[in-house]
Amino acid sequence: MNLPIDFSTLAIALPPASPQFINLYDESSTGQQPSVARELSDGLLVAAASLSPKFLYNELGSRLFEAITQLDEYYPTRTEAAIFEASSPQIAQTLTSVGIRNACLIDLGAGNCAKASKLIPHLQPRQYVPVDISVDFLRSAANQVQNTFPALDIVGLGMDFSSGLVLPQEIQGQDRVFFYPGSSLGNFHPHEALEFLKHIADPAQGKARGLLLGIDLVKDTATLEAAYDDALGVTASFNKNMLLNVNDIIGSDFDVRQWQHIGLFNVEKSRIEMHLQAAQDLTVTWHGQTRAFRAGERIHTECSYKYTLESMTAMLQQAGFRHIEHWTDPKGWFAVFWAAV
Ligand code: AVJ
Repeated sequence: MNLPIDFSTLAIALPPASPQFINLYDESSTGQQPSVARELSDGLLVAAASLSPKFLYNELGSRLFEAITQLDEYYPTRTEAAIFEASSPQIAQTLTSVGIRNACLIDLGAGNCAKASKLIPHLQPRQYVPVDISVDFLRSAANQVQNTFPALDIVGLGMDFSSGLVLPQEIQGQDRVFFYPGSSLGNFHPHEALEFLKHIADPAQGKARGLLLGIDLVKDTATLEAAYDDALGVTASFNKNMLLNVNDIIGSDFDVRQWQHIGLFNVEKSRIEMHLQAAQDLTVTWHGQTRAFRAGERIHTECSYKYTLESMTAMLQQAGFRHIEHWTDPKGWFAVFWAAV
């Protein structure tokens, strides 16, 4: 049987080029990276134990976060998506009106790159740079984006930018547009958030044109707490998985069954706090170190600060951004800001 060969189908079946990928984090060797092991040890040994929320994001953690974004209680992702859905033409117009074409779109905490993938057709960047600490997860997400946009120049960047954002040479210096969606800026304490924003706005740091920022807004405590302590227990699993990640990195012997998830809104500090609370007296051991926890004692694992339109506008101004605009949803639960340098 001689079938004619359809060359157009064959061409489609060819895999597109893989994106460039630069790994500045290398999670496989973090155990040997004294700074990371040291940071974890120090956090566990102080009286009020705490661990950085960046340790939520190993491969499983990124998947669990993806699941969180699909929960009824977790409104931020779908509310932000609705704002982009409704306001994409205006957002794109705002960016083009300041003359941004062929931008380098730097996606901070890109995760599965789903948000940027929706934005790329509107913004038409010349280069797309997804950045995330969850290196393997990002690598496959970047490959998928390349499938969707075969002609786009993509440089994936595996890195921890929580203590400073230093971009390598391969990243286009001109016309940088930073994309920081999802309210991840809320993981920084306000003074750190301000420093981070100042750094992005700093003309000495490269040619940033502006920042497209998603921020979760202050609202009633019940809505906030449900979003961070859902009925299915996905957020609880996400939080407890940090202990498994820590076990992998420093060889500790955390038993997740001995810990309970706490998600609460601290009204005075305007922040969600996640904690892990020891369900019983217990001891954790790693590399010759020991930490005893009494029943009820907590490890603080995340802060997620909530802002108002006014407080975030003020912070962006203080950071040195000039032209600031925002879009919000009908309930005023979430906001997308454009802040031009
Ligand atoms: C990814 C930091 C924006 O703070 O809402 C979700 C992480 N923590 N549920 C957030 C998170 C618990 C999320 N950010």
